[in-house]
Amino acid sequence: MNVHSKSGSRRWFTTAVLLRTALIGGVISAFGMILVGSRPASATQSADGSSSWFGNGGGDNSDREIREHARKMMNEGRKVFRHDTFGDEAFWGDTLRLHQALAGKANGGVGPGVSPATALAVGLKVDVALPEKLVKQLEKGEVDLNDPATTLALLKLDSVVGVTGSFDSGNRLVSMGIQCALCHSTVDDSFAPGIGRRLDGWPNRDLNVGAIVGLAPDLTYFSNLLGVDDATVRTVLNSWGPGKFDAALALDGKAFRPDGSSAATLIPPAFGLAGVNLHTSTGWGGVSHWNAFVANLEMHGKGTFYDPRLDDSAKFPVAAANGFGNVRSEEDLITSKLAALHFYQLAIPAPEPPRGSFDRERAKRGQDLFNGKADCARCHVPPLFTEPGWNMHTPAEIGIDDFQAMRSPDERYRTTPLKGLWAHQKGGFYHDGRFPALIDVVDHYDGFLGLSLSPSEKADLVEYLKSL
Ligand code: HEC
Ligand code: HEC
Repeated sequence: MNVHSKSGSRRWFTTAVLLRTALIGGVISAFGMILVGSRPASATQSADGSSSWFGNGGGDNSDREIREHARKMMNEGRKVFRHDTFGDEAFWGDTLRLHQALAGKANGGVGPGVSPATALAVGLKVDVALPEKLVKQLEKGEVDLNDPATTLALLKLDSVVGVTGSFDSGNRLVSMGIQCALCHSTVDDSFAPGIGRRLDGWPNRDLNVGAIVGLAPDLTYFSNLLGVDDATVRTVLNSWGPGKFDAALALDGKAFRPDGSSAATLIPPAFGLAGVNLHTSTGWGGVSHWNAFVANLEMHGKGTFYDPRLDDSAKFPVAAANGFGNVRSEEDLITSKLAALHFYQLAIPAPEPPRGSFDRERAKRGQDLFNGKADCARCHVPPLFTEPGWNMHTPAEIGIDDFQAMRSPDERYRTTPLKGLWAHQKGGFYHDGRFPALIDVVDHYDGFLGLSLSPSEKADLVEYLKSL
């Protein structure tokens, strides 16, 4: 993305608009002069006498400028979300050498390689926007889904959602990078399971991030960072399971909860975020704070990141020791993209539930419960379904343990915005998926808040949650 030419073209656009305004204004004034045979009205006064050609009277022009800006930001942001690696090939390729494991020995890499069948099995998704010929071949079953070379062909077409391969002139995979879309997009399975049109913002709850990273031939980076051996790193990665990732591991080195289960958290949706103040399950910051955090510290792109809360060596020993609270890269490939990325994310709506996916009668009754007797709307304030303001609660207020909260600066849990819940039922609910189904969430509140809901009322509440 070339920032200079972009602002240059905007300047040109603005100049053109102003010129046009002046011309039209001039014509109207001259016309007025002929009609009334008087001097043209002052340039600073428009028809309603209130403003100038270039000031408020240019309302139309400024609307147009804003619309044009919005359109550009959308397009740029979408590109960043789907395709930008922020230069993280230096990590995923050069450091971990993950591309070699993808390619396999037969294609210049190491090991057996990753066939499309294996890639789909660990939850990677394929964008069906493929050349027509290939789609035909796929339809006829003429494409070998068990051959890693096919994976490389798909990578070359930039069709593996959230993963980009770099190829040399001899078609050899020489590096790879990842994007936001890897975890926060999926596909609609319109062609086959795992192959379809992109659904940006939907969490990929099939994606086994740990298993994918664990394919890397060289995990020395993590061994050094966490001060453990290679086998331990691989055990930790394999403990995450599908739909989960542990963003705090690289900060505090805690891989397991006190009960011995994995400390990883669910990949949340990245839709329906507009109007929501704090983000992530523990409210680290706004969307743009977290975007910069992830791009720098988790994806290992090249950029700038500042958050001195990470210098707290008692809470974040790994982050403090490695200076993660103040990252300055020689080349910054992230900062210039944050505005458009933010804009695009806020534009992604929560998806509407499909027709017939919930019982309307029950949902109506559930809504009354939600806003009344069940006390849900106290925190999940409609229509945002989180609190306008500082949307954070102590673990005691929602009746759960404080393990994950204590791994964050404010030591609280953020009220989850509930729109589009139906679209991410796989993997469970609450930050770590501890409640397998919505009825389990309702049961939890029923007991904890002493709601005394009848089984039928609980069912009503669940139908309402599915309707959001
Ligand atoms: C490896 C998987 C992965 C990648 C890649 C990833 N994220 Fe996330 N993202 C997560 C997980 C897991 C969380 C939840 C963290 C938590 O709650 O503690 C999260 C949380 C978020 C949230 C907060 C959502 C909410 O409900 O408040 C936003 C926004 C977000 N990510 C945006 C991005 C953007 C933008 C990128 C690319 C720059 C990105 N993520 C890359 C896994 C990922
Ligand atoms: C005191 C504030 C508060 C009240 C009252 C409350 N919630 Fe929540 N809710 C939260 C917080 C905070 C979370 C995040 C918990 C976590 O991620 O561990 C949450 C999470 C949820 C989730 C999980 C969303 C997801 O994507 O995993 C559901 C569903 C939910 N609440 C429904 C309800 C219902 C139904 C009620 C009423 C019976 C209710 N809540 C009452 C604060 C509240």
